Amino acid sequence: MRSLLTSLLLLTRQVQHSLTYTLLSNQSLQHLIPPPPFSPFTYPDPDFDPIHSTLLAPILQPRVPGTPGHAAVQHHFTSFIRNRLHPSWQVLWHNTTSTTPATGDRQVPFQNLILRRDPPWASDAGEGEVARLTLAAHYDSLYRPEGFVGAIDSAVPCALLLFVAQAVDEALTRRWEGMESDGGGLEEEKGVQILLLDGEEAWVEWSEVDSLYGSRALAEAWEGTRYEAGSSFSTPLEAISLFVLLDLLGAAEPNIPSYFPSTHWAYQHVAKIEGRLRKLGVLETKPRKPFLPESDKEGVQFFRGFVQDDHVPFMQRGVDILHIIPTPFPAVWHTMDDDGDHLDVPTIRDWARIMTSFVAEWMDLEGYVPEADPRRAENKYSEKQEL
Ligand SMILES: *[C@@H]1O[C@H](CO)[C@@H](O)[C@H](O)[C@H]1NC(C)=O
Ligand SMILES: *[C@@H]1O[C@H](CO)[C@@H](O)[C@H](O)[C@H]1NC(C)=O
Ligand SMILES: [Zn+2]
Repeated sequence: MRSLLTSLLLLTRQVQHSLTYTLLSNQSLQHLIPPPPFSPFTYPDPDFDPIHSTLLAPILQPRVPGTPGHAAVQHHFTSFIRNRLHPSWQVLWHNTTSTTPATGDRQVPFQNLILRRDPPWASDAGEGEVARLTLAAHYDSLYRPEGFVGAIDSAVPCALLLFVAQAVDEALTRRWEGMESDGGGLEEEKGVQILLLDGEEAWVEWSEVDSLYGSRALAEAWEGTRYEAGSSFSTPLEAISLFVLLDLLGAAEPNIPSYFPSTHWAYQHVAKIEGRLRKLGVLETKPRKPFLPESDKEGVQFFRGFVQDDHVPFMQRGVDILHIIPTPFPAVWHTMDDDGDHLDVPTIRDWARIMTSFVAEWMDLEGYVPEADPRRAENKYSEKQEL
């Protein structure tokens, strides 16, 4: 992505926030992802250790679209989903091709993976009835320098999103099963989807045509897909309640600004969760400042610019964006040092705790958080582990 120091004026949809969810209790915040000492019996970290984990480590390889590393990572995602998530998650691919300035006439494949969980009664109610919290990160890596791994950019954000899916999975199941058997609350139509986007990086030099290959194609396709007439939402794009984009996470001491006045309320929710988790002693890191320090920002202080990234094609179409990306970028950005050795695992685990809690709160999971460590549920949907 690229930093822009110009200010912007954008028309965003007039937002109405019916924040009908209950805040998570202290107890749920503590149970969702247990506080330190973090799983003392499972060192190295099974999810985020850069070398030995089964979630992050397989993503830490060059993943240039159309190469074997790219295909291997796609395969890793689908086996993780099959082995570790509830079978009701839908896996949808959105595949396109494009030429790039680096590859001549060859059509390079760009393949977005959409992982979606809607309430079980949503298919009866109609597809256009579900408002989806949308969490996104890109999984492609830079074409040059050759061998570039892209650990913070964006292997870690992808691993975090899959972790979050697993961490809220059981509580979602419990909540929706309970609501179905009560026969009550069926008007509740809130789903969650994860977008693992392809082709974010420029191949030669960042421009409108050389960047964001996957997200441009997906935003356009979703804008043009109509739901049945009379649905609450007319397109999958409009059904996005909030688009949360994670990028460049995994280095210590991140500073995440609040970029957009229209979603400052959502930023404040994440910041509040971070603050509560810190007070409760659930987080491991002791940064000089919180990861999200700008809750009190207001008005004119916002007009400082933003970072060009996968949210842009969605934002241009009126979608509300929460961009979780540090400014300044970590020092390893777009260098060969952006690899597993330069990650700060406690920071990654704290992001996992913060984002899991945010999603659990958004999905109204208070009262459904199981006491058991969700990480014990490894491969609960499959006997065999595919590596
Ligand atoms: C899209 O690409 C993925 C990953 O290569 C592949 O598994 C899937 O079958 C493709 N889908 C279609 C409809 O071509
Ligand atoms: C939750 O934890 C905070 C911080 O430790 C504490 O101040 C607050 O009283 C707790 N709330 C309840 C309901 O226990
Ligand atoms: Zn990048």
